[in-house]
Amino acid sequence: MDVFGLLLFVLGLASSNLSAYNGHFSVMDYGATSDDQTDDSQAFLEAWNAACTALHLQSSTVYVPPQKTFLLNPIIFHGPCNPARINFLISGTIMAPESAGEWDGRDASEWLGFKNVNGLHVDGFGLVDGQGKAWWDQSCKYHPQLALKFMSCNESSVSNLKVVNSAQTHIVVKACNRFNIDNLVIESPGNSPNTDGIHIQSSHNVFLTNSKIGAGDDCISIGDYISNIEIRNVECGPGHGISIGSLGRDGNYVQVEKIRVIDAVFNGTSNGARIKTWQAGRGYVRDVTFQNLKFSYVKNPIIIDQNYCYIRNACEEQESGVQISNVNYKEVSGTSSTEIAINLNCSKFVPCFGISMESIQLMSAKAGNDVVASCSNAYGQELDVFPAPCLLR
Ligand SMILES: *[C@@H]1O[C@H](CO)[C@@H](O)[C@H](O)[C@H]1NC(C)=O
Ligand SMILES: *[C@@H]1O[C@H](CO)[C@@H](O)[C@H](O)[C@H]1NC(C)=O
Ligand SMILES: *[C@@H]1O[C@H](CO)[C@@H](O)[C@H](O)[C@H]1NC(C)=O
Repeated sequence: MDVFGLLLFVLGLASSNLSAYNGHFSVMDYGATSDDQTDDSQAFLEAWNAACTALHLQSSTVYVPPQKTFLLNPIIFHGPCNPARINFLISGTIMAPESAGEWDGRDASEWLGFKNVNGLHVDGFGLVDGQGKAWWDQSCKYHPQLALKFMSCNESSVSNLKVVNSAQTHIVVKACNRFNIDNLVIESPGNSPNTDGIHIQSSHNVFLTNSKIGAGDDCISIGDYISNIEIRNVECGPGHGISIGSLGRDGNYVQVEKIRVIDAVFNGTSNGARIKTWQAGRGYVRDVTFQNLKFSYVKNPIIIDQNYCYIRNACEEQESGVQISNVNYKEVSGTSSTEIAINLNCSKFVPCFGISMESIQLMSAKAGNDVVASCSNAYGQELDVFPAPCLLR
């Protein structure tokens, strides 16, 4: 060690304790009370700032110890940070305030946000509890939007966590490139409004694996400006399924491509593999694969709705639409709780083409009932599909 190095070493020891010098920043060392009553936001922010601004470290860790519960008001953890890697280890429980009143006067657009941090890895086998119950019966307008939001985080990940009872969407990944989501459990009641599991938007190269999601809205929803997303080995239910869209609502140019959903199980969901676009939209959804899906008591196992409109009877027919092409459904089986097991409802003006269906066996969930396939303006090929035929050639 040269003199300069020695000086840094001594300064490091003097300015903090030894564990902090090693890049380990426990929220307990920054005044967290963990009594589940006192707001610990300030302690978390200080631990974050210390970890993020640490000098001469390749990697630093914010540590939330196990067997303790921390109450946090809305916080954003900002980057960029000095270390190339920041670990955020949640081993204990993090809770949002229970009473809606405590959010008054705060920016409630997200509860815990991470912004502009590269090399962020949130992990730790802990619990993140949004305590959304108080919000679910209030009008959406007053809701905090999200539990965990990752905004502009590249080469990052969230894994090994349980996230429950968000006021609305549990996890949002937005404007991130190379982001991994692995081994999450997401749980909210099936009747909690707008509680999507995971929403991905404006992001590229996202891998979502080995997760179990039950919520009151989409288990996974994929928004606009997306490419190369792989979803593999997920369980969905209760919930509204895995949904690409809705897209093109405001007439924007949609760019969604290279989505693969592989090895997914749907239990009691309202949709399974869904693509929904508004007539006003332009642009494309293309190169989508749904493979090895298993359905149990699902209302719409396979559905494309290119006339999506949730304002009933308020949407006039328009001569525009988002072009949907090269969608492959392969190795799909299970039961539908409604008669229409396959529903490809494409636009008269911008039909779907290049649809391929192979090895599909869908039955009615009610013994003795039939299921049918319904296709409008959908072109492609099918091989070994029941119910069929459906696609135009
Ligand atoms: C992440 O990558 C995108 C493009 O790849 C870039 O525009 C953005 O600034 C990056 N974010 C950060 C925090 O560096
Ligand atoms: C589906 O969910 C129900 C109720 O939650 C459960 O009883 C059943 O075992 C599940 N079925 C499968 C195939 O996982
Ligand atoms: C297809 O979409 C149109 C327009 O929204 C709707 O009226 C029709 O019922 C849909 N067809 C099926 C089979 O869902």
